[in-house]
Amino acid sequence: MSDLNNILNSFETKFSQIKNKEDLQNLKSEFFGKNGSISLQFKKMGSLNPEERKNFAKELNKIKDHLTSYIEKKFKDFENLEINQKLKNEKIDITLPIRSIQQGKIHPVSQVIDEISSIFSEVGFSVAEGPDVETENNNFTALNTPEDHPARDMHDTFYLDKDKKILLRTHTSPVQIRTMLNGKPPFKIIVPGRTYRCDSDQTHAPMFHQLEGLHIDKNITMGHLKGCLNYFIREFFEVKKIKMRFRPSHFPFTEPSAEVDIGYKIENGKIIIGEGDKWLEILGCGMVHPNVLKNTKVDPKKYQGFAFGMGIDRLAMLKYGINDLRAFFETDYRWLNHFGFDPLDVPTNYRGLSR
Ligand code: DAH
Repeated sequence: MSDLNNILNSFETKFSQIKNKEDLQNLKSEFFGKNGSISLQFKKMGSLNPEERKNFAKELNKIKDHLTSYIEKKFKDFENLEINQKLKNEKIDITLPIRSIQQGKIHPVSQVIDEISSIFSEVGFSVAEGPDVETENNNFTALNTPEDHPARDMHDTFYLDKDKKILLRTHTSPVQIRTMLNGKPPFKIIVPGRTYRCDSDQTHAPMFHQLEGLHIDKNITMGHLKGCLNYFIREFFEVKKIKMRFRPSHFPFTEPSAEVDIGYKIENGKIIIGEGDKWLEILGCGMVHPNVLKNTKVDPKKYQGFAFGMGIDRLAMLKYGINDLRAFFETDYRWLNHFGFDPLDVPTNYRGLSR
């Protein structure tokens, strides 16, 4: 029995010196491991006579239970200590101010493209697109603008390859050609997109945005053109009535051609669209020239229609009171923050169409 007393004493001394979980683990192995002092005592039991063995086993089991309960309790203590330490260290300071979140804004041009697309989709137009890099044929020739036509110079074209006749499109009109060549009439499309001309001042940028419209069907007249544009301008500027005039003009791809002006006035330094005695030119339009239809394999005896083209950036400037076009493309975050749109704010004339 003195062996057992020694074991007990040695355990108590060592146990009192334990500092952490690792020490405790070592102590456990020292007594209960394969060759631990307690385990060895169990092995020893086999050599005892039955009477001795009974007493010894009783005593040994008592000590084993005693030591085990000490060890287990100590493990629990260490675990609790760890948890409390963690809770203390990982405390969240809810009095700290939150990190500021910079919310993105929708660029006025994207906003206006969305508005325009939704207004036209309401009356059956779908949105078509074409590449920025175009052939000279699609941009000029097929649009009835021959080689020596002055309009080619007026467009101040950026040629990418003069020999191969590849250029940056000067207007969205080439998408008329692409659409008609790739499909069968009727056609009823709008084309918002980037266009390029070698020009730069307060109201011109080398890259700008246009919106093209094309409606080809049987029996389409200039009356339809007028009605369509009148509807669009009223919806876009959110006015009930609009003063509007068609001025005779010339474009190679339409006959007859017109430019459209809308009435406006200035009141307290602010522009009022739709009324007043001043005129503002906003778009070009006309009845699609029979040559354009022939060039795109559409029979001009069966089909006819109208087309129009306007500057999107200018529409955005007018509607939202922005006076320098160049600012649109300078990517100044402060400017965008001021003139941009909250992505979660649904515009008043939004009808659920998204690009
Ligand atoms: N493409 C012309 C321009 O950039 C605008 C235009 C005028 C487009 C009349 C048309 C149109 O479709 O019919 O100046």
